[in-house]
Amino acid sequence: MSAFNQINDAVSKTVNAGIDTLASSVAQAQIQHAPFVRGFTDLCANGWQQGWHERNGGNLSYRLTPEEADTVRASLSDPSAPWVVLDFSEPTLAGEFFLVTGAGCYIQNIPNDPLSNIGIVEVNENGSAYRVVWGLAGRQPTSELPTHLMVHAIRSSATKGACRVIYHAHPRNVIAMTAVEPLDARTFTRALWKAMTECIIAFPEGVGVVPWMVPGGRTIAQASAEQMKHFAAVVWAQHGLFASGPTFDETFGLMQTIEKAADIYGRARMMNGGSNDFLNTISDEGLAQIADELGLDANRDFLDL
Ligand code: 13P
Ligand code: ZN
Repeated sequence: MSAFNQINDAVSKTVNAGIDTLASSVAQAQIQHAPFVRGFTDLCANGWQQGWHERNGGNLSYRLTPEEADTVRASLSDPSAPWVVLDFSEPTLAGEFFLVTGAGCYIQNIPNDPLSNIGIVEVNENGSAYRVVWGLAGRQPTSELPTHLMVHAIRSSATKGACRVIYHAHPRNVIAMTAVEPLDARTFTRALWKAMTECIIAFPEGVGVVPWMVPGGRTIAQASAEQMKHFAAVVWAQHGLFASGPTFDETFGLMQTIEKAADIYGRARMMNGGSNDFLNTISDEGLAQIADELGLDANRDFLDL
């Protein structure tokens, strides 16, 4: 090859590499404008407004659709971040992409600065490790990633793939309720169903309860996943609530309905001198009637009929 051709070849390789890097940077920057990122940050803004996220309290994850994952894959920078090994494996999550909040990030800061506070992780081909492929600005994913991933696996199979959103918050009335109620799913569900008519419609299967545990690890993740085989939401005693759903709106709505019912239940008890022996409530027959008339698959084990 002549000297001219060698120079020409080197120049075009450098230019092409530069164009590839630029295209990848543009594609990476565009991810933050994708509709699923907007849905994610809108939920964060709404949760903050509700007062559910003191300090870095709470976290959120979203399982991308195959089409959304393709657009992210197309913008992957090379070399990608290293794989981080999980201390469990979830083969059903192999190859999935999740948009997640960062460890220690404040939910209130997410809408204005998503790039520093949220990111996308990819799970490897056997569900035993993840790597960051977008965002997070050097942060780790939320410390509750084990719970998010295990619960995604369980809820995805329980809903034939429909569930995409897992949301954790620290709503005060649900947490207060865990100080005074026996920590079992039947007791919590009945108190909430009877506090407000819409509850049995919003969560006909009931809510699960996990006793107090150290957060952020595999044990609380496994206990939560076990409950979420049956329930779309699970209460963490003295800590908060995990809610799941197919969309951001439905997941936020479930969190809000449970918290509002807990608020009403607590106020009614206070007005009643602390007792939960109320003058008026929804009877078990009434709850069954709602389920029958609306064709709900309500959890009959939680009704005394
Ligand atoms: P992260 O900041 O790691 O998401 O933790 C917040 C939290 O609520 C832990 O349960
Ligand atoms: Zn928490």
